[in-house]
Amino acid sequence: MSIPFLVSLVDGKAAGLFFDNSYRSWVDLGASKPGTLEYRALKGEFRLYVMVGTPQTVLERYTELTGRMSLLPLWALGFQQSRWSYVPQSRLLEIARTFRERRIPCDALYLDIDYMDGFRCFTWNRKHFPNPPQMLADLHAQGFKVVTIIDPGIKIDPAYEVYQDGLAWKYLLTYPDGEPFNAPVWPGDCHFPDFSDPQVRQWWGDNHQGLLEDGVDGIWNDMNEIALITGFPRQVPDMVTHSKEGQGADHAEIHNVYGLLMTRACKEGQQRLRPDRRPFLLTRSGWAGVQRYSIHWTGDNNSTWQHLALHVQMVLTLGISGIAMASADIGGFSGGPGPELYTRWMQAGAFMPFYRVHSMKGSPNQEPWSFGTQVEKICRKYIELRYRLLPYSYTAMWQASQSGAPLVRPLFWANPEDTRAYSIQDQYLYGDAFLVAPVITQGATQRVVYLPDGLWFNFWTNESIPGGQMVSVDAPLDSLPLFVRGGAVIPLWPVQQYTSEKPVETLELQVYITAGNTTSQLYEDDGSSPNYDSPEAHRLSEFILQVNQDGSGSLRRVIRQGGYTPAYSHQKIRVIGLKSAPSGVELAGGKLLSQGYDTATGILHLEIDATGNFELLLE
Ligand code: GLC
Repeated sequence: MSIPFLVSLVDGKAAGLFFDNSYRSWVDLGASKPGTLEYRALKGEFRLYVMVGTPQTVLERYTELTGRMSLLPLWALGFQQSRWSYVPQSRLLEIARTFRERRIPCDALYLDIDYMDGFRCFTWNRKHFPNPPQMLADLHAQGFKVVTIIDPGIKIDPAYEVYQDGLAWKYLLTYPDGEPFNAPVWPGDCHFPDFSDPQVRQWWGDNHQGLLEDGVDGIWNDMNEIALITGFPRQVPDMVTHSKEGQGADHAEIHNVYGLLMTRACKEGQQRLRPDRRPFLLTRSGWAGVQRYSIHWTGDNNSTWQHLALHVQMVLTLGISGIAMASADIGGFSGGPGPELYTRWMQAGAFMPFYRVHSMKGSPNQEPWSFGTQVEKICRKYIELRYRLLPYSYTAMWQASQSGAPLVRPLFWANPEDTRAYSIQDQYLYGDAFLVAPVITQGATQRVVYLPDGLWFNFWTNESIPGGQMVSVDAPLDSLPLFVRGGAVIPLWPVQQYTSEKPVETLELQVYITAGNTTSQLYEDDGSSPNYDSPEAHRLSEFILQVNQDGSGSLRRVIRQGGYTPAYSHQKIRVIGLKSAPSGVELAGGKLLSQGYDTATGILHLEIDATGNFELLLE
């Protein structure tokens, strides 16, 4: 993943510099000449876009230029289980069954390279998967989606149709003398499509027809750097030629954008072949703007504490580079994490843009039940929390599609003047309201957390803590240090075993009282239609909370956009942080079905039958 975009932040002022040159390049951030930022590239033009403002506005401008993600189907926010590889079919079905039996929510299962026939893309290994449509229908009936891997390497095999077509139609990368370039990947010697040719992208996209017709729900693009495996050459030589939309180019110019062009072919293919569904694509490689086509995982990490820490750092950095949805292999790809590391990783993962466990061939099992009952119980708790927070995460994903704001944001995001937050890279904001401080140290049962200015609430205890200070938080193995910004209104759903298990009957709202005026958003649609932009297909609400010093105030829900009607007929409201029971509660826009103040917890419980606009007055 190569994104030549740089964000600087000095005393609250942000600048973004996008070096738009796809050749191999170097950036020297004043290391050799203090005070001088130096760009160098092998070739190409010097084209630099500069944007200034706050980190938010810089990213808004950068993604205006390079593009934003489109909404993924809701299931992409559910828990996802992968490994290299679930084969044969009986093993995959056993995994699916176990999730349901153990009541651990899960939405997606992944098929790595061994589902293919000898690693030939767009084929099935019929010995291990005798009847893919039947198997996929079975899994769909249990509420699972299935994602299959596709690599760019086309096996050199005269009996393989994709190879025949690619060769006959001259869709493959060649040396300057016209000889197809070949190099080894999983299937042995391969040729590679030239995704910089629009016709090749069309052809490649259309090649997905069989998988999609069989019922595959999403695609996973790997090795698209292009990565080659042992042998010669180790990388694609610069002289290899490309079409570059008919203009002609060598590989030195296309190398960094090859992965992005592959994802473009795949996403556009999904849109053409299955226009009634939102595409789902996960990629390893990409370049500036790849967010238009795909979400991203960070490749082959290790099951180590260092790589858990890196997971947070990389997702933060990718986020301010325009990739709003990125994550790493939870539990680590190579090696075995052991129970403690796995647990900590699963906790942090619940607050990542997407939540996928993946591991390498030969590594120990990494399903949530693989480490004994205590770990399983903790994993279930965090996966369930992920499902409870789906309407919140979905709103954050929608924000990414509108403004480029990533789901995982650096601590300085909401408050760029707070210089103390600049260098913190082991904590982050998740959406508008959550502050997450994962435990990334072996054996730790406490950690120090920096809370930015404002009032914060400990998510687990509801204790309110003034920000602008470091606090020490207890973090036994089952606890992820998690805080909510005062003034936030968090939408929640009931736990489901998968995202479309049943219609949501009640929307819960958790309101965190802080003196002042705050606004929180909630975006709703059916979670699957590609035409979500149309006015009747979605709805945007704002929760406007106004609280006086004495704790009295109001909460209003105002529908700002769209006429979508969700399934629920009730809203349950929990008001957290009141000093005492309100002397009166009044509701306009619905019926107050129940109300109760719990003196032990200080929480006011309300249930109302409104589904849209309402105004609640607390006296
Ligand atoms: C690459 C991918 C990894 C995958 C493996 C086999 O190493 O990064 O996720 O499991 O190839 O396809």
